[in-house]
Amino acid sequence: MDARAMWAKQDRHPGDRKRLFTAVKEFTGDVPVLYPGSYVDIAPSFLFSSVTYADMDRRAARFFKEGAAVSAIVAENRDSPEPADWSFVHADYSKDLGLEDQSFGLLVSLWSGFVSEHCTRYLQSGGWLLANSSHGDVAMASLNKELTLVAVVNSRSGDYQISKKKLDSYLKPKKPVEITGDTLHQSQRGIAYTKSPFAYIFRRTAATR
Ligand SMILES: C[S@@+](CC[C@H](N)C(=O)[O-])C[C@H]1O[C@@H](n2cnc3c(N)ncnc32)[C@H](O)[C@@H]1O
Repeated sequence: MDARAMWAKQDRHPGDRKRLFTAVKEFTGDVPVLYPGSYVDIAPSFLFSSVTYADMDRRAARFFKEGAAVSAIVAENRDSPEPADWSFVHADYSKDLGLEDQSFGLLVSLWSGFVSEHCTRYLQSGGWLLANSSHGDVAMASLNKELTLVAVVNSRSGDYQISKKKLDSYLKPKKPVEITGDTLHQSQRGIAYTKSPFAYIFRRTAATR
């Protein structure tokens, strides 16, 4: 499968990820983005001017190797005439990615495991983490003293809205459950919370490392 076919498969709800990242960029501004476990989800580049993708999957590496095709898909989907800069790191994000600590303004964690646990180090102080809960990374992020929940992303009829309201009503487990790094690693699954927005936005309030 070539890069265009891979993107078409990824974008199976056409424009959905572009709408998500449109809402996210309105919230965060145009900051440098790091997307570990991206596979071939290049939608952030439709909005943000600098994105670093990372994945250990060989198919993702093959996709990004078709650089001209990837850049063409990005250009076709950008509303801004400004060129977008992207790069790809073929690596396990739980190991050193060879990137500078505290050099990104947005870390993306969507369906890709414990990104926040290993990659918060790359976030600038004041940088944002966009995470969803399915693989447990929201619960992992909520244990991280450097990260504070600052907003949630709700999805309604294919549109995304970001809300800062009633944040203390989120991250409440439906049933009493022990949540530690160990229990999350064991289950590799998200916690069932009483409220389930599409995703959560945390902010790195302090960079102590
Ligand atoms: C289910 S896909 C999600 C892809 C994309 N985030 C999305 O939302 O469509 C999970 C991806 O995370 C990658 N991944 C999981 N653990 C990883 C790790 N430790 N290092 C690098 N990539 C990883 C897998 O290779 C896979 O491509």
